[in-house]
Amino acid sequence: MRSKDFLSIEQLDPEELSALIAEGRALKAAPLSRNTLLAGQSVALLFQKPSLRTRVSFEVAASQLGAQCLYLSPQEVGLGEREDVADVARVLSRYVNCIVARTFFHQDIEALARHASVPVINGLSDQSHPCQILGDLLTIEEHFGRVRGLTVTFVGDGNNVARSLVEAAPRAGFSLRIACPPGYEPDPRAVAAAIRLDPESVSVGHDAVLAATNADVLYTDVWFSMGQEAERDQRAAVFPPYRLNEDLVRRAHPDTIVMHCLPAHRGEEITDEVMESPASVVFDQAENRLHAQKALLAHLLEHRSGSGHLER
Ligand code: CP
Ligand code: NVA
Repeated sequence: MRSKDFLSIEQLDPEELSALIAEGRALKAAPLSRNTLLAGQSVALLFQKPSLRTRVSFEVAASQLGAQCLYLSPQEVGLGEREDVADVARVLSRYVNCIVARTFFHQDIEALARHASVPVINGLSDQSHPCQILGDLLTIEEHFGRVRGLTVTFVGDGNNVARSLVEAAPRAGFSLRIACPPGYEPDPRAVAAAIRLDPESVSVGHDAVLAATNADVLYTDVWFSMGQEAERDQRAAVFPPYRLNEDLVRRAHPDTIVMHCLPAHRGEEITDEVMESPASVVFDQAENRLHAQKALLAHLLEHRSGSGHLER
């Protein structure tokens, strides 16, 4: 990876992205094959928002590579409140070899990366969720044997997960159809950048049925993300036509798979029936976060010697 950090899918070229997925699959097949690779290294998890999957999968990933993790909750650090983001980055760089950050504002992750001498990984921001998409691409590839050439339909909010899918589409060679309520489209600059790379990679519309027709993958996420709780009622009024239900699944390809990054609000963006149907791979997705992130940690940390302060 050219950059010391992993902040977005956009920074990867297609070869790097497919190499990470391949390495994730190899590590899934032999989970403890590299259990001393990062011996003696430490990873800080600096989280401003709750997490189940990201926190646990990074902790287990680090441990299976021989590294240790420290979880730092919002109350402990007070990122940008008790202490400047830049100072937190510089202090942590003296102790640990990597920072995984989950922040409300993407600019805070960028600032951490700018001021830290060690790699910073985006563990979700308001803008994007690149680690999620690494696990998702691994899931799609293990199911279909490929990602290239498939049609992935995302119904719902053009949020952080949708944006990372937009960035992945031209790089992994799939065709992404997004169906969302008017006003909830993904960032048009990210869509335009994807289309510049591959004109067929992304389309954005408002018709969920049209978008779902013959899709290989149906993907959805919550209607309001962490930090948007106050918009819940306003959003609940416009999102129901984008619920991932059995009707949409029937429109898709007979072998379609159903994806959700979780946590799910069952009965809102996805019905119980669809979440529990044989087409659902949502728990494979959750598991594959672990394998993909092991590949990512190995990639970012393997060739960096010693801890942050020794490198300066
Ligand atoms: N999908 C995901 O990132 O889940 P958490 O918010 O539980 O980490
Ligand atoms: N869009 C969701 C994803 C959670 C993993 C959120 O940001 O809350």
